[in-house]
Amino acid sequence: MSRVTSAVVGSADYRDSGLVFPPGFTFGSATASYQIEGAAAEDGRGPSIWDTFSKTPGKVWNGDTGDVACDHYHRWESDLDLMTDLGLGAYRFSIAWPRIVPGGRGDVNQAGIDFYSRLVDGLLERGIRPVATLYHWDLPQPLEDEGGWAVRSTTDAFEEYARIMGEALGDRVHTWTTLNEPWCSAYLGYGQGGHAPGRHEPAAALAAVHHLNLAHGRAVQALRETSTGTPQYSITLNFHVLRGHGDGGAEAVRRADALANRAFTHPLLKGQYPADLLEDTASVTDWAFVQDGDLRAINQPIDVLGVNYYSTATVGLWDGASAKQMNDGHKPTAGGTAWPGSADVLEFVAQPGPYTAMGWNIAPEGLEELLVSLSEQFPHQPLMVTENGAAFDDVVAPDGSVSDPERLDYLRRHFTAAHRALGRGVDLRGYFVWSLLDNFEWGFGYAKRFGIVRVDFDTLERTVKDSGRWYAELAKTGALPA
Ligand code: FCB
Repeated sequence: MSRVTSAVVGSADYRDSGLVFPPGFTFGSATASYQIEGAAAEDGRGPSIWDTFSKTPGKVWNGDTGDVACDHYHRWESDLDLMTDLGLGAYRFSIAWPRIVPGGRGDVNQAGIDFYSRLVDGLLERGIRPVATLYHWDLPQPLEDEGGWAVRSTTDAFEEYARIMGEALGDRVHTWTTLNEPWCSAYLGYGQGGHAPGRHEPAAALAAVHHLNLAHGRAVQALRETSTGTPQYSITLNFHVLRGHGDGGAEAVRRADALANRAFTHPLLKGQYPADLLEDTASVTDWAFVQDGDLRAINQPIDVLGVNYYSTATVGLWDGASAKQMNDGHKPTAGGTAWPGSADVLEFVAQPGPYTAMGWNIAPEGLEELLVSLSEQFPHQPLMVTENGAAFDDVVAPDGSVSDPERLDYLRRHFTAAHRALGRGVDLRGYFVWSLLDNFEWGFGYAKRFGIVRVDFDTLERTVKDSGRWYAELAKTGALPA
């Protein structure tokens, strides 16, 4: 860490410049299959739960779907050239399970494998490390029809899929990530319902938590058995950085932390579920879905823990009388709860601004705090920021250029935060900006733009934004540009 210089300019507002990142620090960008690929019915791809959900009236803003998205499936080569222009060292993408095993289990679709194989080769030819996520929320619909993540058999199907991918790409992928944000898959998909499959079943949400954890562990083992290269193994979690509000603030934070953070980190990294989580949720489920040997299977060593961070959350105990405020993880609210066992206990309190176009508060200090806290809790676990970025309402100038000073400022402040965490001894290996391209932002459709590259959704033309140019300079020099 000796090469990490101290702050040159700025302090409390995290607007530093000139900071130098350590040699070998990875600068990358991230996307996900359903959000960018399009070609939803091409080359043998089967339907996923997001196809079904987005085509269900009222579920996604404006009735938007991922049918075309950024058309990356056809434009992948020029998108890779764009990454070269931006000087990216790594690209975090996800593999669409329904392209590989359209029925969820059984027959393998070679055309799907070939697409990702070409993508990985294209990245390697350009000197960009492929960081492949197996599951960024597009469950094959036939598996949901059998119960989805609420049933154990989905973990068998996932292991089978992981084995197929390990055999196909395990000679070339640099980092395997099993799951992206299982918090969202479980609680928003099965509890709150704002994400596919849109169910409102608190007990199913907790079963999904366990089955996703188990799927991770089984997939890591399957990937290890089949990968012939020397890939790293990881999982990406979205952590809740919590502040307490009012007299019951500490208790509220404990409960929210158990459900949102420790329900994943403890089984994954310590091989156990926290006792308080089991107690808090006892009225919802008895956790009988946890079988002998599961925790051992879940607790696989990983090379790097992926950290997604956007903002903080403030939580208190609801007094039962006032109108309750809930902020279910910053996604559209859909009537259920993302907090099984605590829905009538917790209250989420509005955050101080400034805010992004998502209404998420901008709090770079939360990223520094999170990275330091994780390295204290799990001292030997290297970390990687696998997502951070911001949506703003971009304006296209008459000459076609996109000046996005707010996004650039957001990134500067969060990179400063990451640098400060490095200075405090955190083993942070790299940083992936969300996102390379404007894309399908789940329940918000195409209304929210996170890209450092603009996509015109009529012409599908790409335009590098000012933030993209700024990031290219950071990636090329390793120092925070002025
Ligand atoms: C994360 C998701 C990603 C994107 C960003 C804004 O929760 O992993 O796909 O939607 O939020």
